Amino acid sequence: MARRKLLMGNWKMNKTSAEAKEFAIAAKPLAQLAKANKIDLGVAPTYLSLQVTRAKAAKSMIVAAQNCHYKESGAYTGEVSIPMLKEMKINWVILGHSERRAYDNETSEKCNLKIKALLANDMTPLYCVGETLEEFEAGKTKEVVGEQIRKGLEGLSEEDGKKLVIAYEPVWSIGTGKNASTEIAQDVCNFIRKVLKECVGKSASKIRILYGGSVKPENIKAYLSCPDVDGALVGGASLKIDSYTKLLEEII
Ligand code: 13P
Repeated sequence: MARRKLLMGNWKMNKTSAEAKEFAIAAKPLAQLAKANKIDLGVAPTYLSLQVTRAKAAKSMIVAAQNCHYKESGAYTGEVSIPMLKEMKINWVILGHSERRAYDNETSEKCNLKIKALLANDMTPLYCVGETLEEFEAGKTKEVVGEQIRKGLEGLSEEDGKKLVIAYEPVWSIGTGKNASTEIAQDVCNFIRKVLKECVGKSASKIRILYGGSVKPENIKAYLSCPDVDGALVGGASLKIDSYTKLLEEII
């Protein structure tokens, strides 16, 4: 069965709650359009805007958190737990984003604990992997990405695999306007699928792999035409409703 396309906006540390609310309302017709075309559509606001975004967005719109803690509660100042997200009807969480790996000591091992906790709660982890410019130039992309996948998914079952989503985001292409070629995107996403097969067996063929890094309305279609790229994780171009609309229209 074909994998359903997924367009996910990662808002990072952008938008106040009022701005998130405005976007969620404006995106309502888009959610209908996406649904009618069998495309999954989502956004990942900051923790503070999750509630208002969930309340105002169309039901079919995915509203994801950008992180979570793996413990249910406790002395972890500044953290947010999975039960807290669940209470707000948030069922998706982005993990291992390169910005969190770089600035917040988010390791693949930590992501593994979070992925397991999310799966135990019947939630969807969107696990990000990707190499830095230095690693890319040293020809280490597959080594790095392979290790991130193997460590992040350690101990997962074939059944667990069915609930996963992966994003490949080369760090050197995030927010830089330097795009990975479609050949690179396909080659790495195809490699990721092979590693996924090692990790979770047959369900690897069902896992959606998104490409991320300077995705724009002008290039999204080319990425999605790659056989192993099932969608996009978009930062900058997901912030304005006009360009978010164009991103969707391009892949219908
Ligand atoms: P940009 O689309 O702004 O390059 O960001 C990509 C990204 O990091 C999405 O998670």
